[in-house]
Amino acid sequence: MRILFVTSEIHPLVKTGGLADVSASLPAALQSLGMDIRILIPGYPGVLSGMKEAFECARLSEGSLLCGKMPDTGVPVYAIDHPIFRRGGGPYVDEQGLDWPDNAARFGLLSKTAALLASRHSPLEWKPEIVQGNDWQSGLAPAFMHFSGSNARSMMTVHNLAFQGNFSRDWVGGLGLPPSSYSMHGVEFHGRFSFLKAGLYYSNTITTVSPSYAQEIQTPEMGCGMEGLLQHRRRDVHGILNGIDLSEWSPERDGYLNVKYDESNLQSKIEIKRELQAGLGLERQDDAPLFGIVSRLTYQKGLDLVHSCLDALFEQGAQIAVLGTGEKEYEQAFLRLAEKHPGRCSTSIGYDESLAHNIMAGADLFLMPSRFEPCGLNQMYGMRYGTPPVVRKTGGLADSVTDNETGFVFEKAEAGAFREAISRAISCYRNREAFRNIQRSGMAKNFAWEKSARSYIALYESLLSQGLSTGPGFRI
Ligand code: ADP
Ligand code: GLC
Repeated sequence: MRILFVTSEIHPLVKTGGLADVSASLPAALQSLGMDIRILIPGYPGVLSGMKEAFECARLSEGSLLCGKMPDTGVPVYAIDHPIFRRGGGPYVDEQGLDWPDNAARFGLLSKTAALLASRHSPLEWKPEIVQGNDWQSGLAPAFMHFSGSNARSMMTVHNLAFQGNFSRDWVGGLGLPPSSYSMHGVEFHGRFSFLKAGLYYSNTITTVSPSYAQEIQTPEMGCGMEGLLQHRRRDVHGILNGIDLSEWSPERDGYLNVKYDESNLQSKIEIKRELQAGLGLERQDDAPLFGIVSRLTYQKGLDLVHSCLDALFEQGAQIAVLGTGEKEYEQAFLRLAEKHPGRCSTSIGYDESLAHNIMAGADLFLMPSRFEPCGLNQMYGMRYGTPPVVRKTGGLADSVTDNETGFVFEKAEAGAFREAISRAISCYRNREAFRNIQRSGMAKNFAWEKSARSYIALYESLLSQGLSTGPGFRI
């Protein structure tokens, strides 16, 4: 099967979160199962310099298409080389953290190029049978495919419904969509032009990254206003839990760790903990339960709950190591905490791959009290590293962590419930045998991509075996 996987970030070339990890590892898993899968991505500076064997394979009406390979996996990549992607800053924001004002044009171009490659006007010989878009940045691809009469099937994969790509309606015509598409039965969403709504409306099928989140997004509480459409399309909404890339995330061969370990020598973790405590200015205390956080610092991640529980945490002798970037107020709050509790709390603001791996390995427990979590990868990395996660029962956290077996789960997004879970985790940590059992159960879980990749293949197959259907209003 020929699949075009359209994404706005990919590890290790450009990353802001889990989408980058999934964009690297899911296509690689699909390729190893025999799929002819290729990636389409904007040619940001990191992509142009990082892809291997790149050459120009087509001229586009806007810019050109470079063809190359991913550095580690060799999965083929097409990058759109155009000045609107060749900028400093991040993939979505400038150096000041503000959205690029022309994001509609930038990701409109990504989506339009995907649809072009799936059309009879494609400049390439290779034609995808399936176009899989990821999040709002590729949300217009199914719309363009619909209006150009493409024969390929479209799949919209939602990694986070809260990011919707909503813009002024003035962009509709400029991007080449028919004015009639700006309607409730189309790309309009509460008086705005929504890339995500377009993807959810026009795609042939919808997936999201865990079974629980697939249900949650059909409710008013978690549907971000899209619940009506998602309920309407419920037969087309599928939840497939992400896997993790074991070549990147395995403590027995992790290149970022000075000491490697596995289930049989978990006692070696203490050496990484000591290094971490020394490196971060935490007191050297072998028996202080060390909690790790590696996260985007945003409302989604529920980190304000951590603040209301910190006193309880310190009273029980715990330490905490935070690594993250995000909203300034969260960054400031964690920096103030580290100042107030020297030796017990350390805050590192920034993006640091090596520190992320060392926290995952050196911490005793991992905190993830998310308000919502479509899938979440860090809790799976935590289990893999013998660092049991304390998580809220939502989305992919609910689907991947079992309370008192592989981690500690609480239900309500309230300080009391979180505090109770933290206390249970600390008591368990102090009971060596019980804690080892939880660590080992987590490490024994199979988070490899293969099972999930096979679920995607089954969906691709079923899409190809059906007649062409588009969106909730249409059956062609
Ligand atoms: P999300 O995509 O919502 O941010 P996930 O748990 O799916 O959450 O994925 C987060 C990914 O980003 C993980 O690979 C995590 O290690 C990484 N990450 C997040 N923040 C940082 C950071 N400050 N430094 C290094 N890696 C980070
Ligand atoms: C999003 C979600 C996260 C998920 C990741 C990869 O960033 O917030 O829960 O793990 O995408 O699918």
